[in-house]
Amino acid sequence: MRERFRVRGGARPVGAVTVVGAKNSALKLMAASVLAEGRTTLTNVPAIADVTIMAELLRSLDVDVDYDPAAGVVVLDVPETVGHRADYRLVRALRASISVLGPLVARTGQADVAVPGGDAIGSRGLDLHTAGLEALGAAVHVSHGYLIAEAPHGLTGTGIRLEFPSVGATENILTAAVLARGRTRIDNAAREPEIVDLADLLVAMGARVSGAGSSHIVIDGVEALQPTSHAVIPDRIAAGTWAFAAATTRGDLEIVGGVLEHLRAPLGALERAGCTVEPTDRGFRVAAGPARPVAFDVATLPYPGFPTDLQPFAITYNSVAAGSAMVTENVFEARFRTVQELARLGADAQVDGHHVMVHGVRMLSGAPVEASDIRSGAALVIAGLVAEGETLVSGVHHIDRGYPRFEEAWRALGAEVSREPDEEPWEG
Ligand code: UD1
Repeated sequence: MRERFRVRGGARPVGAVTVVGAKNSALKLMAASVLAEGRTTLTNVPAIADVTIMAELLRSLDVDVDYDPAAGVVVLDVPETVGHRADYRLVRALRASISVLGPLVARTGQADVAVPGGDAIGSRGLDLHTAGLEALGAAVHVSHGYLIAEAPHGLTGTGIRLEFPSVGATENILTAAVLARGRTRIDNAAREPEIVDLADLLVAMGARVSGAGSSHIVIDGVEALQPTSHAVIPDRIAAGTWAFAAATTRGDLEIVGGVLEHLRAPLGALERAGCTVEPTDRGFRVAAGPARPVAFDVATLPYPGFPTDLQPFAITYNSVAAGSAMVTENVFEARFRTVQELARLGADAQVDGHHVMVHGVRMLSGAPVEASDIRSGAALVIAGLVAEGETLVSGVHHIDRGYPRFEEAWRALGAEVSREPDEEPWEG
């Protein structure tokens, strides 16, 4: 059943909100578990549909997965022999399925992973993953919509320089190289905290990895890895969402479990715009100043730059801020799905190539809008809170992918957000 959020504008959320474990880390750690035979336990795993899909994908590879969403625990019991085919049905539902590529080639000598949208080798999106595996000695080709990587005699370490610090490619090369013969060096590696979390898991499994979190990662391959237990890092994008929520709605939030160091660029920008940002015993606090928020320019970049996943929140913030601002997207192409929906709420924002020019208005006005992905959906809920009247946000299943029980978190902060069936008059 389709659902929507009913959001009443005008509240200034105040209180404490707890950040869940990082979706983008949990999924990769689950995939990496296949590197070691035996039981790996992950804790602080978020209760979201993507984890359920990754669990199903790993079960299809003969891994016994026990996922307890309420406890935030996933236990993965990996057999001596694992499968190597990631089915199209699951990959289509979860693009992050591509993260089984590295672990499967390393562990089984073969990975057949359906390619989302039928991407061909060399297409922007997977070229760095495949070039990395080829450099490690795998033969890679596409057949019937599947990316097939084969290394029947194992992989061999080498130097790999990424043209762009892709998060996914860095992860797949890292997880493949841990069982390769000899030394691999990844230059221009992605530096995101999720890469560090993955490297920490691998080291706990017995891998020899150094430099994760910098642009140069060195991996000395080992014969085999052992299962382990590991807690997923807090979700920096969820923490950043709450930080922008406080700034946009003129609220005051303690973000429990939030890691300030993971959000230097966005929090620094909010501080310069007049917010109070300070560490607390349990995380950090973001409190808006008494005046209207002040517009600021944003340009997304790989970590430690401003995260592309927070870009919709920057647009939403600027749409009600005093002044005008330019938001530039440098990581993904044409990723401005928030803009046309914000326009329904009365925002003044124009897309020009990879820029959005936003002129702040004093007040948005409530209207029906449609979430089309996780982050733009959450940004529309925040927009609804600074709109006059009621905003109906459809496509709640997108928001649920990143924010478990989002409406309950809002209500605990004094904001009126409720979930209801989405009746579409033109249906039936
Ligand atoms: C991950 C995150 C996503 C985040 C992004 C950037 C997950 C599940 N998703 O995505 O939320 O927005 O990092 O922080 O962790 N590219 C290529 N060739 C490749 C790989 C990537 O050209 O082989 C390009 C992409 O088209 C994109 C850019 O590089 O324009 C960034 O992609 P990447 O860093 O790989 O992001 P993901 O790992 O897909």
